Order: sequence, then structure tokens, then C-alpha cells
Amino acid sequence: MNAPFRDAHVGFGAIHRRVIFFGLVALFVLQTGMTWTLSTDVDDPDAHFSTAAYRGRALYQAFNCTACHQLYGLGGYMGPDLTNVTSDPDKGRAFAKGLILHGTTRMPALGLTDTQADDIVAYLEAVAATGTYPVRSLDLTPWGTYTQMTHAQE
Ligand code: HEC
Repeated sequence: MNAPFRDAHVGFGAIHRRVIFFGLVALFVLQTGMTWTLSTDVDDPDAHFSTAAYRGRALYQAFNCTACHQLYGLGGYMGPDLTNVTSDPDKGRAFAKGLILHGTTRMPALGLTDTQADDIVAYLEAVAATGTYPVRSLDLTPWGTYTQMTHAQE
């Protein structure tokens, strides 16, 4: 009486173990597959950069704009942050180009050509497309969501 019952019990357990084992193998393969395919599907920052923007970046470095200006808050502090100057509704590309070409009483005219100014503006537009600065400050609720979005106090 005892033996067949025990055999049946053992056999049932082995099938269960196999189902669990192959189930875990299948989940491992699935997760590995998703890690390789889905996680590489992110926005590529280089996608915003045209050839003109790359030339503009070289000029931005050659003329050392960063001595006086910041991108994402990093750089010199004599002039304003330029991260979103081209996308700012009160400023924009023509305003930026005018300042780059002619300077002001506070910013020196650096003697750039019209084409060079266009390239730098293309670079600043590519930078503006990567995000906004100052970064948004969020009021978090205790359960991890946020209640409102405000801009960081400057
Ligand atoms: C010697 C410091 C200095 C250098 C170098 C300099 N700038 Fe400026 N820049 C300033 C100052 C100061 C202002 C603010 C001008 C004003 O309000 O009269 C300014 C303003 C600007 C603005 C307008 C920003 C805004 O939000 O109003 C742009 C665009 C700009 N600069 C681009 C550049 C670029 C591009 C370069 C490099 C080719 C450069 N600047 C080099 C000091 C500098």
C-alpha cells in the first residue's frame, strides 16, 4: 500500500521540479534577450548633432566661450548659461547669432565670421535639444509620485 503511493508522489515531484527548472531557464533566456534588445533602444545624443553643430562645438572650444559661459551650469560665470538660449522664446537663434557676431558692452565681439556664427548657433541648438537647464525640481510625495513641477529657484 505504501510503496505505490510513495512512487507516485516522487514521480509527481520530479515533473514539478522539471517544470520549475525549465520555466526558470525560459525566463532567464527571455530576460537576457530583452536586456540585449530593449535596453539599447535609448535616445542617442549624437543624433542631434549635424556637421555644422560639430564645427560649432570646435569653434566654441577654440574661442573659449566656456571661460565666460556655462552649459548645464558648468563653465565660467561672467556671462549667462547658454544651454537653452536658442530655444528660449524671449531669445532664440537670431538673438544668439547677433550677440555672437557683435558682442555687447559686456561681451567682447570675438571677430567670428557669419558662417562661424551660424555653426556655433547650430551647436547651441543641438545642446538645447538635449534637455533643459536648470533641471526641473519635483515635489515628491511619500509614495514616490510628484505633485507639481516647478523650476528651481535661481
Ligand atoms: C569675456 C567673456 C565672454 C566670452 C569669452 C564670451 N562671452 Fe558671450 N556673453 C558674455 C557676457 C558678459 C554676456 C551678457 C551680455 C549682456 O547681457 O550684455 C554674454 C552673452 C552671450 C549670449 C546671449 C546669452 C543670453 O542668454 O542673453 C550668447 C548667445 C553668447 N554670449 C555667446 C557666446 C559665444 C558663442 C562665445 C564664444 C564664441 C562667447 N559668448 C564668448 C561674456 C562672454
